[in-house]
Amino acid sequence: MNKKILVTGGAGYIGTHTCIALHAAGYDIVVYDNLSNSSREAINRVSTLIGQSIDFIEGDIRDAESLRQVFSAHQFFGVIHFAGLKAVGESVAQPLKYYDNNVSGTITLLEVMSEYDVKNLVFSSSATVYGDPERLPIDENSPRSCTNPYGQSKLTVEHILEDLAVSDASWNLIPLRYFNPVGAHPSGQIGEDPNDIPNNLMPYISQVAVGKLEKLSIFGNDYPTTDGTGVRDFIHVTDLAQGHVAALNYLESQTRTAKTDSIGFLPINLGTGKGTSVLELVAAFSKVSEQDIPYQFADRRAGDIASCYASADKAKDLLKWQAELSIAEMCQDTWRWQSMNPNGYNAT
Ligand code: NAD
Ligand code: UFG
Repeated sequence: MNKKILVTGGAGYIGTHTCIALHAAGYDIVVYDNLSNSSREAINRVSTLIGQSIDFIEGDIRDAESLRQVFSAHQFFGVIHFAGLKAVGESVAQPLKYYDNNVSGTITLLEVMSEYDVKNLVFSSSATVYGDPERLPIDENSPRSCTNPYGQSKLTVEHILEDLAVSDASWNLIPLRYFNPVGAHPSGQIGEDPNDIPNNLMPYISQVAVGKLEKLSIFGNDYPTTDGTGVRDFIHVTDLAQGHVAALNYLESQTRTAKTDSIGFLPINLGTGKGTSVLELVAAFSKVSEQDIPYQFADRRAGDIASCYASADKAKDLLKWQAELSIAEMCQDTWRWQSMNPNGYNAT
């Protein structure tokens, strides 16, 4: 029988791509999402792509009763927990909203998982937990610190998971620390659909390329990097999705073979290990899309760091996973999604 996975936040950007990868890997999925930052159309498109309807429940992770109904109706092998809010600027303006959603919501989910004795969790953490890194590439033992409520909410959940693993050895908890997810499904049917003017670089570039935004502002050209602009570890979202399948496969193999010794708390970076500068990404996008990307240099953005890229060795060693897709493919797939869906999932 296929293993069944609960995917919280499965209607979102990374969740939709991961649902497709999970289905292809033979997992059964149930998606639980309150649609606060996503749409039913995304779920419909995933259904079309996988050729079967998705078991979807509209619900909030802070609603224990609603979660209990889901756990009563299904026998889950584990949970992939994407649900959460992710806008750094909004988190500074509305910290309680972020702690409530991301921290309280996760506690409620963990409590219900415990009630139903489901102890396998893959959690969406972030490279943001490393703050301004002391050394590069960043490995999983690097010190953690955060400068904004969004980052604090991720770090707090990591601490909660660590404490939980100490308190009860039957938990298997894998926080995956994503670097900078970009790109879209190669079909052009699903991708990132920001509500407002994008905060992040890749969706901003693609909206300039498609003519929705006039010009990119590059925040800082005086960083100690090759060309003065920020350097990040961009990772294709379909590679990232595959990383979740690899984490589940690892959980399965460990829980099968090492019954007395659980995984506990096992943080793993998901990145490519390569840094790309803002200017390099703009040039790559311009080349594959054959569009001009007008830009201007602006002041550094508060809270930004110069460079951030992963050591991807732990994922390779333990999960037998590594990112495969290039910057050109990330740009190509983003461009296909953006040009086929200039208004995202909202057709009007
Ligand atoms: P997203 O906003 O597209 O997806 C998150 C989903 O969770 C949305 O569909 C939203 O409706 C849902 N959701 C939010 N609060 C909920 C709640 N209380 N109950 C139920 N559903 C809820 O974001 P994404 O880019 O797909 O990110 C997924 C996860 O990965 C998030 O936890 C995010 O913080 C983390 N992450 C994202 C990035 C990135 O750059 N995209 C980087 C690092 C970590
Ligand atoms: N940038 C610009 N102009 C823009 C947007 C971004 O120059 O309009 C620059 C930034 O200054 C930075 C780089 O592009 O140098 C990347 O910025 P993003 O906003 O795309 O990504 P960040 O690395 O700042 O942060 C992202 C997510 C965080 C997450 C982090 C690590 O927004 O939530 O990656 O995973 F924590």
